[in-house]
Amino acid sequence: MMNLTRPSHSSILFLFFILAINSTSALTKYNVLNFGAKPNGKTDSTKAFLMAWKAACASADSTIIYVPKGRYLLGSMAFQGGCKSPQIIFRIDGTLVAPQDYRVLGKSTDWLSFEGVNGVSILGGALDAKGPSLWACKASHSNCPSGATTLSFTNSKNIRIRSLLSLNSQMFHVVINRCENVDVQGVRIIAAGNSPNTGGIHVQLSKNVNIIKCSIKTGDDCISIGPGTKNLWIEQVTCGPGHGISIGSLAKDLKEEGVQNVTVRNTIFLGTQNGLRIKSWARPSTGFVQGVRFTDSLMRNVQNPIVIDQNYCPHNLNCPNQVSGIKIKDIIYEGIRGTSSTQVAIKFDCSPKNPCTGIKLHNVNLSYLNKPAQSSCSNVRGKVLNLVRPESCL
Ligand SMILES: *[C@@H]1O[C@H](CO)[C@@H](O)[C@H](O)[C@H]1NC(C)=O
Ligand SMILES: *[C@@H]1O[C@H](CO)[C@@H](O)[C@H](O)[C@H]1NC(C)=O
Repeated sequence: MMNLTRPSHSSILFLFFILAINSTSALTKYNVLNFGAKPNGKTDSTKAFLMAWKAACASADSTIIYVPKGRYLLGSMAFQGGCKSPQIIFRIDGTLVAPQDYRVLGKSTDWLSFEGVNGVSILGGALDAKGPSLWACKASHSNCPSGATTLSFTNSKNIRIRSLLSLNSQMFHVVINRCENVDVQGVRIIAAGNSPNTGGIHVQLSKNVNIIKCSIKTGDDCISIGPGTKNLWIEQVTCGPGHGISIGSLAKDLKEEGVQNVTVRNTIFLGTQNGLRIKSWARPSTGFVQGVRFTDSLMRNVQNPIVIDQNYCPHNLNCPNQVSGIKIKDIIYEGIRGTSSTQVAIKFDCSPKNPCTGIKLHNVNLSYLNKPAQSSCSNVRGKVLNLVRPESCL
């Protein structure tokens, strides 16, 4: 058995959190065991967790909901906001486990969802969503539920997620939707490389989000960035297996908010399908992507290290013979190095109606089988500084 929790590490972080709390406010602790939770992995502890949340939420103090070591069986839970408590810390030393039967969570969109909360931190712990039985269903049947996101925050502010392990989600592991000021650090995500739709972290309609020092192994995008994302900072993230870091898919809808001011730095991609990708459907849309800096990336055997694909049209449904309305502008690739597992390491396939503009390649060095890789361009304008290889087509 793998030991999923690292108490010493989380204790240090816990101390840091206590120190970080405004020292003038009181801090009240709620232990889930006192609400009837059982750390045996067998007794349904859903009600106990929700009661602990209700108590913490109603307190006028800053609060800690403490989850001691052990395994807690939990069904789908919504932690609703409107709390009196200015700060609620979930300190988890144990593992939260989903029901063995995938159908129990499968019919919900989320397993653990926080809605309309302000000042919530999740510190430590492991979430085991028991996804493999649903993945197996999807591999052999067509009438499986789509599955639940493991952890989601919606319409929330001032959120911190630290030192969390998310294992084998049914769908996305973490979703940040309509949020502001979110700090994700030291999160590990693990799912099989061939698991369907198990995206790592998805951000949309949110601003001021940091994703730092994370390791993400999944069967889908490592981090996906949806419409309406603004001021996103990604740093020291390792991806793979999986589909890489992706802005998109965009142009899903005609009326769509843009993506702006995204920084992705110090990333490592190991055997992923893509490295740094921007992707939009070939469909009309009001959306845009503007002001993205991809800097210092190491690629190891990545199929498409640098790719802009504005002709995304899976199964050729609802998009053939259309062009993407998404305007892509001011995208910098700097210090991108390593190996491509296919000959074309840089591919800019932009919209004929809205060519990509302001694309900059600076110090890029990608090889394929120890030979220079190739690049491919359509409908793209930009400039190149110190490109080593492949030779630019800009
Ligand atoms: C871009 O986002 C970063 C945080 O990711 C922020 O520090 C910076 O001020 C933003 N820049 C603009 C022009 O808004
Ligand atoms: C480019 O990468 C190749 C292979 O990793 C390496 O041998 C070469 O020295 C690099 N060139 C520069 C200028 O960094």
